[in-house]
Amino acid sequence: MDLGIAGRKAIVCASSKGLGKACALALAQAGCDVFVNGRDAKLLEATADEIRATGVAVVAIPGDIGDASVRAALLAACPAPDILVNNNGGPPPQPFNAITREDVLRGLEANMLTPIALAQAVIGGMKERRFGRIINITSSSVRAPIAGLDVSSGARAGLTAFLAATARAVARDNVTINSIQPGAFDTDRIRGTLVKQAASRGIDEAKVRAEREASIPAGRFGQATEFGQLCAFLASAQAGYITGQNILIDGGAFPGAF
Ligand SMILES: NC(=O)c1ccc[n+]([C@@H]2O[C@H](COP(=O)([O-])OP(=O)(O)OC[C@H]3O[C@@H](n4cnc5c(N)ncnc54)[C@H](OP(=O)(O)O)[C@@H]3O)[C@@H](O)[C@H]2O)c1
Repeated sequence: MDLGIAGRKAIVCASSKGLGKACALALAQAGCDVFVNGRDAKLLEATADEIRATGVAVVAIPGDIGDASVRAALLAACPAPDILVNNNGGPPPQPFNAITREDVLRGLEANMLTPIALAQAVIGGMKERRFGRIINITSSSVRAPIAGLDVSSGARAGLTAFLAATARAVARDNVTINSIQPGAFDTDRIRGTLVKQAASRGIDEAKVRAEREASIPAGRFGQATEFGQLCAFLASAQAGYITGQNILIDGGAFPGAF
């Protein structure tokens, strides 16, 4: 399927590996020039090289996306983005009573204020050019709570609500704002949690993985490429009538009919 976005410019935050990288790769495969970012400059360069193999232009902007100067560098490299994929690392799991005010502020900064700042920076130009796709990577925990991920769920729910009215306000200008809510995906992030759970229970990591996968109706974790393809579709020319939505991609784990 031709997504109708060849030649478009896409900023993909936190994209040196995992879900962000999969989005950048899928957008590159659709013909977009991509601007990738991550803190580990070496890993980011390797990712940029991998994506360049698709034949598009790839620019790597290393640094913490929570840092205003890194966001400014991304926007200087790509002053007129057609597509913005907001992504960042997620707050670490913590017991409710151990969460400090500083933890909450850090989570809000990373997973709510940073994507809002980027959306504000790009939305005016998108409206003028009458094309824009803003896609936020949030979490299924926004829809169905996960104990220990309170900071993550709260900050991402805040982001979702914050952008909901603007999504309607800019729809007329062919600018859409949607979120993708991942369930369990087989990335380094989930692998890290499996290792910790296995250590704390004193059992094999493979057993923890098998248990987690068995609890998902699809019987497996999602693959990052599946996530990236959904992102590319939401960024496509054809997706202009989808806005203000939160698309769950979780192998059926959320148990509701709606
Ligand atoms: N995988 C899942 O099952 C799942 C489920 C629900 C929600 N999520 C959320 O989806 C997002 C992506 O998860 P993932 O599984 O793809 O994680 P991942 O595999 O750990 O990849 C995270 C990516 O973000 C970059 N990154 C992290 N912090 C950054 C920062 N401050 N500035 C710039 N880049 C940064 C990392 O590179 P550097 O470390 O080099 O910066 C890496 O490229 C996270 O917010 C996560 O909480 C994931």
